[in-house]
Amino acid sequence: MMGYGYSPALSEGALKPPLFQTSTFAFRSAEEGKAFFELAYGLREKKQGEEIGLIYSRINNPNLEVLEDRLAIWDNAAASLVFASGMAAIATSMLAYLRPGDVFIFSEPVYGGTEYLVHKILPEFGVHGVGFMAEGGSAGLWAAAEEAKRRAAESGGKVGAIYLETPANPTNGLVDISAAREASHSLGGIGGAQGGIRPSVMVDNTFLGPLWQTPLDLGADLTITSLTKYVGGHSDLIAGSVSGSDPFIAPVRVMRTILGTMSDPHTGWLLMRSLETLKLRMEAAAAGARQVAAFLRSHERVKSVWFLDFLPKTHPDRELFERQCKSAGSTFAFEIEGGEAEAFRFLNALKVFKLAVSLGGTESLASHPAAMTHSDVPPESRARLGITDALVRVSVGVEAPADLCADLDQALAAIG
Ligand SMILES: Cc1ncc(COP(=O)(O)O)c(C=O)c1O
Repeated sequence: MMGYGYSPALSEGALKPPLFQTSTFAFRSAEEGKAFFELAYGLREKKQGEEIGLIYSRINNPNLEVLEDRLAIWDNAAASLVFASGMAAIATSMLAYLRPGDVFIFSEPVYGGTEYLVHKILPEFGVHGVGFMAEGGSAGLWAAAEEAKRRAAESGGKVGAIYLETPANPTNGLVDISAAREASHSLGGIGGAQGGIRPSVMVDNTFLGPLWQTPLDLGADLTITSLTKYVGGHSDLIAGSVSGSDPFIAPVRVMRTILGTMSDPHTGWLLMRSLETLKLRMEAAAAGARQVAAFLRSHERVKSVWFLDFLPKTHPDRELFERQCKSAGSTFAFEIEGGEAEAFRFLNALKVFKLAVSLGGTESLASHPAAMTHSDVPPESRARLGITDALVRVSVGVEAPADLCADLDQALAAIG
């Protein structure tokens, strides 16, 4: 993360990649410009040893290219693409794979912004989702696959994507990525109703990515991350990424170039700064989260703590957690005794934890999903998904865990 993909010799010996704050790049000749465009627009194959040159920062930029090469290492991908936000990454991927009449399958719950995209925006374009509950095995996934197939046949489209958010925001519910890949193959079988096209398996890896879960190794075709969270890590930027194999990422790249949903050079530069400490920050946060979760579990005002390490051996997701995730991460929710009034009294009393949405930064944050990130989800859906008024979500940062526990202790006492 310090040196890969960049040589100081290319930039006057600058140890760090300079910021290429430019919209466009001067060609050495008209012939060179023509050759770069031919490759960028896929008009011909690359010649031996030929590389696509720099054209225009909506198509390519050195800061974004070095960053993308480094992100691809973390995601174990052939290629990565950086976007203006996690939502830009999600929306561009969906638009790359779904057309009017198509159906997609999605796990629930999903982040509030994704929820809006799935329920309100995509249907207006004639694209409809079939949801299933994360957590508790793959029966829901298979039932959703059957339903999606039936609805796609009815609307004359295909099942275009299987979209998973695992662990889910805010419940930490899990979905088996390898089962989704199997479902994709079963839906897209050679020939068949879909003409051999199988739905792409997209996984939002924001809660554990990229350190603690590698969806591409588990059967995903595309892994999507809000870089705003752990990767950015300092709560000072908004960005997203999509990683995958060349054939699966190609349509997303085209869609990004045309929609202009890429990130910008300055954000790319900041993200490279962040990648240098990514592992140190994420490991410190996970160690702190274990202590904070254990403290909460032992507190009499706390009803339940949805921390993945606490999944009982008998829980259907325990085996999946051990197979799929390398850590419980540092973002989790817990229910306090009471309802919204008690949760708000607790949140208002916090001093070290900042009362803010988002996650994965160096500072610890606390929020109320039902009133904030998931307030747009209809109350009956919130109840079904377990997003109750007593639920608080925390993202544990890298402060001293003892300070965090002391803060939680005094705020729980302040409930009265
Ligand atoms: C799981 C998950 N996915 C996607 C997003 C959207 O990311 P961004 O805010 O970078 O658009 C978020 C934001 O909170 C998230 O929690």
